[in-house]
Amino acid sequence: MNSPLRMARSSPLRGTVRVPGDKSISHRALLLGGLARGWTRISGIARGADVRATIRAMGAFGVQMQQHDDVVIVHGTGGQGWRSTNAPVDCANSGTTMRLLMSVLSSLGVTGTLTGDESLGRRPMRRFAEPLRQMGATIALSGDGVAPVYVQDGARLHGIDYSLPIASAQLKTALLLAALNAGGSTTLRGRLDSRDHTERMLPRFGAAIRRDADRIVVEGDAQLRGVFLEVPGDPSSAAFWIAAGVLVPGSEIEIRGICLNPTRTGFVRVLQRMGAHIETYVVRNEPEPVGTIRVQSSTLRGVNVEAGEVPDLIDELPLLAVVATQADGVTSVRGAQELRVKESDRIAALASLVESMGASVQTAPDGFTITGPQPLRGAPVSAFGDHRVAMSAAVAALCAHGETVIEGAETVAISYPEFFGTLQMLKGNAP
Ligand code: S3P
Repeated sequence: MNSPLRMARSSPLRGTVRVPGDKSISHRALLLGGLARGWTRISGIARGADVRATIRAMGAFGVQMQQHDDVVIVHGTGGQGWRSTNAPVDCANSGTTMRLLMSVLSSLGVTGTLTGDESLGRRPMRRFAEPLRQMGATIALSGDGVAPVYVQDGARLHGIDYSLPIASAQLKTALLLAALNAGGSTTLRGRLDSRDHTERMLPRFGAAIRRDADRIVVEGDAQLRGVFLEVPGDPSSAAFWIAAGVLVPGSEIEIRGICLNPTRTGFVRVLQRMGAHIETYVVRNEPEPVGTIRVQSSTLRGVNVEAGEVPDLIDELPLLAVVATQADGVTSVRGAQELRVKESDRIAALASLVESMGASVQTAPDGFTITGPQPLRGAPVSAFGDHRVAMSAAVAALCAHGETVIEGAETVAISYPEFFGTLQMLKGNAP
């Protein structure tokens, strides 16, 4: 048990930072490397515990990999190196690991039991198991459709025509990965408007995929080949420096090597609409736009975030609540019911955070409304075992009066182990 972290109001934050490699892209690169034939070399891979969970789990299923610092080489055998195991395989806190592995194991005819920590054990798995079963998978869930997940070697999968009921990139990716080793083609329709890293990455590995406005078609019996990939910085980690830079007076921060995929930069667009001084520069484009973000402290006004915008900033919404307390006027978010089933119930967690610090918020089943500006007061707050809540609390502490004590701050290691070190660096550069 770690002791709670004490934080004070901040001096200006100044400097240039690089953030860890993108978590979503790292998981996908590892799994596709494990399905391809030949070596896949992934540089700049995320160092957090979630991606380590995918590496460990793939190892438990027999995939050979080597890691030196942030470079991982996957020894791909066209999927033939994966082995069934009776021992439970621990996906820790990582929903992406469990959901994508359910699909990969099913498609390769590998038997396995996937477990996770207490938070992962509460998260919905039926929405993944059902379409995979339609493809022919044999999957059993526990309790009310949760982990442990049991995947049984069964019939070979076949392609389906499926309409996604929710804008979930994990669901879309699970089905795209399953489709690769299925017979026939798979067509996805419906809510395709989530992050599109898998669609961008698949052609690099040699998969046949076609996308238009309302469907994605991927061919089965894919012969993937290993590739070299560079993982750009994670915009969901950069978001904390963007918010801190905007909120702490006198700050100027530059973030380099960031993934600027439009399906991930909704937070930047919403803050710009609030009046924030944020500039973005794309320096290369394929397969992901990558570039620099520059941020300066700014005066903000409240905005409405429409349901259609939510997928592009889903992971940044707890942080947006902190930002909204400092903006002039009403900020309102709707259509974000998925926040209820993340690593924590993030609507309840963000409400607890800002209320503990003396601000008021109205919550709804699918969002929240905050009228600002409201001063934040340092207070004891909980991270609810959720890395993004912990880092949102840290940003709130930087602009609060008095001391904030964050319980569970160590959970930042899920996605951003260097978070507090980088914060010290940015404080140290103040004039
Ligand atoms: C992710 C998709 C999103 C996001 C999660 C990572 C991914 O979840 O919240 O942090 O890598 O595909 P959903 O698929 O549940 O929307």
